[in-house]
Amino acid sequence: MSSISNSLQQTAEQVERDVLEQLRVGERISSLTKTPNGLAAFAEAFYFCRVGFVRLNFILGERCASDERLWVGLARNLWEEAGAGSTPPHNELYRRFLEHSTVRPESELVAPAFAEHFDRRWESFVRDADILDALFAFAVYEALDAPDYQMLFHALSGNVQPKPLEFFKVHTEVRHVELFDEALAVVPKSRQSTVISQAMNFVIPLQKGMWLGLLKHMSRATPTTTALATS
Ligand SMILES: [Fe+2]
Repeated sequence: MSSISNSLQQTAEQVERDVLEQLRVGERISSLTKTPNGLAAFAEAFYFCRVGFVRLNFILGERCASDERLWVGLARNLWEEAGAGSTPPHNELYRRFLEHSTVRPESELVAPAFAEHFDRRWESFVRDADILDALFAFAVYEALDAPDYQMLFHALSGNVQPKPLEFFKVHTEVRHVELFDEALAVVPKSRQSTVISQAMNFVIPLQKGMWLGLLKHMSRATPTTTALATS
């Protein structure tokens, strides 16, 4: 891992851990998923926050297809998403969790407003932002996998058996930031910290809004735990 990936990974992870702790996301998701309704609400809503990620890689890839230093990280990222030859594709693993958690078929799921907003913001960013800014935002987003999925795996493992949680388990172990080493190296040293903070300023508040939206959505679906969820 290059020093820029390393510092980006550490900074982003730490900021995200602080957000998760401040909002008590793990504790609240654990409480809200104790009932079948709460677990179904989580699985159905979180589906929309992650299933479109592969598409974002393709949208951004189309914008930088003439420079392999820029798209090689996206290609590696997609290979990881496809399971990297060692697990089923990540969306397939998520579908197993979904099937375990809800009786509603995937084709009948409806995106909650907070998830639509999250996806729309990401899509406009990867379409409109400067390509390096968008790539750095991807790298920051990848750095959030470790804190986010460790928290989710821990929160859900009290309520769900290990097999359907494989999707969450694989994401506690992967490290994606170094996948973007070549693209990160394109930015001159003098501009690196500015580009990192711009990416952080986009990704971290958006992710925080996603957690808040998810918790609010789940607390509506499981009214008995509302007090804990909105406190
Ligand atoms: Fe993944």
